[in-house]
Amino acid sequence: MNTKVWVVDDRANLSTSYPHISQAAQLLRENEVVAFPTETVYGLGANAFSDEAVRKIYEAKGRPSDNPLIVHIASKSKLDEIAKDIPDYAYKLINEYWPGPLTLILPKKGKLLSTIVTAGLDTVGVRMPDHPIALSLIREADVPIAAPSANRSGKPSPTQASHVYHDLNGKISGIVDGGATGVGVESTVLDCSTAVPTILRPGGITKEQLEAIIGEVKIDQALVEEGHAPKSPGMKYTHYAPNAPVVVVKGSLEFLQKVINKHQSEGKKVGVLTTMENVNQLEADTIIPCGSRADLPSVAAQLYDGLRKFDKEDIDIIISESFPQEGVGEAIMNRLLKAAGNNFIFEQ
Ligand code: TXA
Ligand code: MG
Repeated sequence: MNTKVWVVDDRANLSTSYPHISQAAQLLRENEVVAFPTETVYGLGANAFSDEAVRKIYEAKGRPSDNPLIVHIASKSKLDEIAKDIPDYAYKLINEYWPGPLTLILPKKGKLLSTIVTAGLDTVGVRMPDHPIALSLIREADVPIAAPSANRSGKPSPTQASHVYHDLNGKISGIVDGGATGVGVESTVLDCSTAVPTILRPGGITKEQLEAIIGEVKIDQALVEEGHAPKSPGMKYTHYAPNAPVVVVKGSLEFLQKVINKHQSEGKKVGVLTTMENVNQLEADTIIPCGSRADLPSVAAQLYDGLRKFDKEDIDIIISESFPQEGVGEAIMNRLLKAAGNNFIFEQ
């Protein structure tokens, strides 16, 4: 399959019918799959009403069929077509954070949605992305768009069109290239099918931001301690992993250097994922900076690109700094520890 790439660098004109967006929307209406930027990561979109279209997403990604997809809408009024029994607190969050990086899990309504989208569950994940290209594409396609992150299953999510191209060229109909995404980690997934909402995946909207609007919010036990099955099927898989194994290290710079030295003394080539502040303080075979410790959103924005860069380097292991688990740091550490298969070393 020939994968078409449309570069959209003129966001000002998106409100009128932009030819690239129209072509991509036409393909979506024909039940083809097209990747597009959102404010979090690139999504791989397909018509959420069509089994045929949605099946193509799972095929292109190599995604397990028991992992449901998020449905993207471009207008709040479309929510009623696919979800029901929406609690008041969900509306409060929608008013505050949509469009934005917040996915709400709600009871599914009617028979229009493909059952493959929801992997047979009676709930559906819905979000309205805060990106002009995503919004105008969904509006023009005129159907809700099912879209997981546009990476091969298990790999870091794509934050640039080139990441999508690398993983999916030849497997999908097109890529709308709108440059680098902003937030860099995926949306927060919040289960709103219960009396007290529960975070199933930390992401771009923090627990603190949710609680500021609606009070108590729980965190899925599986995210806090091992031995619990996650409520979000996607959280049980190894994810975000570069080719080399990843180890996350918490401690002083001296301790980090000791861990690097130990692996080098075993004959391994060591890559280090670090921050601007520490990039000149450490010695290793490859050092890749990823944002600034003083600005955690900058780390989130560059995290997946940083992890992907190691795949081009000749290294045997990746040692990563760790980050405070507060604000967007919660999502950063969740993704890093998943990439590391929970290989986490602390300084004693
Ligand atoms: O930022 C994002 O959310 C990006 C962009 C493209 O919108 N999308 C994304 O999709 O990250 P994906 O498929 O990579 O992750 C969706 C997560 C998975 O962990 C999945 O299991 C969970 O949401 N999910 C979807 N529907 C669900 C449902 N009905 N119940 C529980 N979890 C659900
Ligand atoms: Mg994903």
